[in-house]
Amino acid sequence: MALREFMAQQLPIFEQKMYEQVEKLTIPKNLKASMLYSLKAGGKRIRPLFVLAVLDLFKKPLAPGYDVGAALEMTHTYSLIHDDLPSMDDDDLRRGKPTNHIVFGEALAVLAGDALNTLSFGVLVNTEVTAEKKVELIQLFHQASGAEGMVGGQVLDIEGEEKQLTLAELEEVHVNKTGALLRFGIEAGAVLADATAEERAALNEYAYHIGLAFQIKDDILDVEGTSEELGKTAGKDEASDKSTYPALLTLEGAHEKLQEHYNLAVAALETVSKEATLLKEIAHYIVHRNK
Ligand code: IPE
Ligand code: IPE
Ligand code: MG
Ligand code: MG
Ligand code: MG
Repeated sequence: MALREFMAQQLPIFEQKMYEQVEKLTIPKNLKASMLYSLKAGGKRIRPLFVLAVLDLFKKPLAPGYDVGAALEMTHTYSLIHDDLPSMDDDDLRRGKPTNHIVFGEALAVLAGDALNTLSFGVLVNTEVTAEKKVELIQLFHQASGAEGMVGGQVLDIEGEEKQLTLAELEEVHVNKTGALLRFGIEAGAVLADATAEERAALNEYAYHIGLAFQIKDDILDVEGTSEELGKTAGKDEASDKSTYPALLTLEGAHEKLQEHYNLAVAALETVSKEATLLKEIAHYIVHRNK
């Protein structure tokens, strides 16, 4: 099945299931509204898409992928709410809407992020898979989302302001702040699908390169896109003196790196299967998207 069709079919099911995880909670009204506001604001849903695409590749039932994907998208959404806070990137536009703290205030935005972060573990725990798989998923997930992954990467990103990092340092920032959660989506799919060690190694190779490509593209779009197209403030990286691929390598150099990592990602897939069409198409989509 082609990616476009797969997305049209699967993402509404996934989204409904994810919203239900929050809607069913008995919690303060404003907290629920704040959590749902950011979850429902849209977004490409690339991370859950990875979980589902890997399950599809191994011809496995998608059901556990919806839950694991929801956990992942919740954590990703929390990372965006916090990323936009005045003390971080100080952004007022996200997914085409005012940012969470603009609508709900800073305290609730921080707490909605905290709640989404912790709820994601609750969702993982309630996924219908063996206890062994749950433990493995939780282990991978805390590494990907926490200090050794996204959170650590966000710290390095802030420390990279007002100084230009080397390419190796910048790669480390990108691999952690963005690559780690994307990679979890792919790895989680592989765990759920009982992929072999060789298949997992090849998928990890794909994930590494596609994670880097994703953030390089994000940096390029920050320069080339408009706020209207992106649904978030364009030109933000230069304004806050971020270390980015375009800043270090020029736009042309960043485009070259993007292509390089795309090629390596697609090459890694060949080892898993000649027909990893969805994963190939997702890679293509990531490189050619305009938001
Ligand atoms: C934006 O992620 C933040 C980065 C890690 C670059 P996405 O580009 O996946 O954002 P949404 O989910 O589509 O809004
Ligand atoms: C954010 O990177 C990565 C996260 C962990 C949220 P950016 O700061 O570049 O993301 P955008 O451009 O605001 O979406
Ligand atoms: Mg940021
Ligand atoms: Mg930001
Ligand atoms: Mg960005």
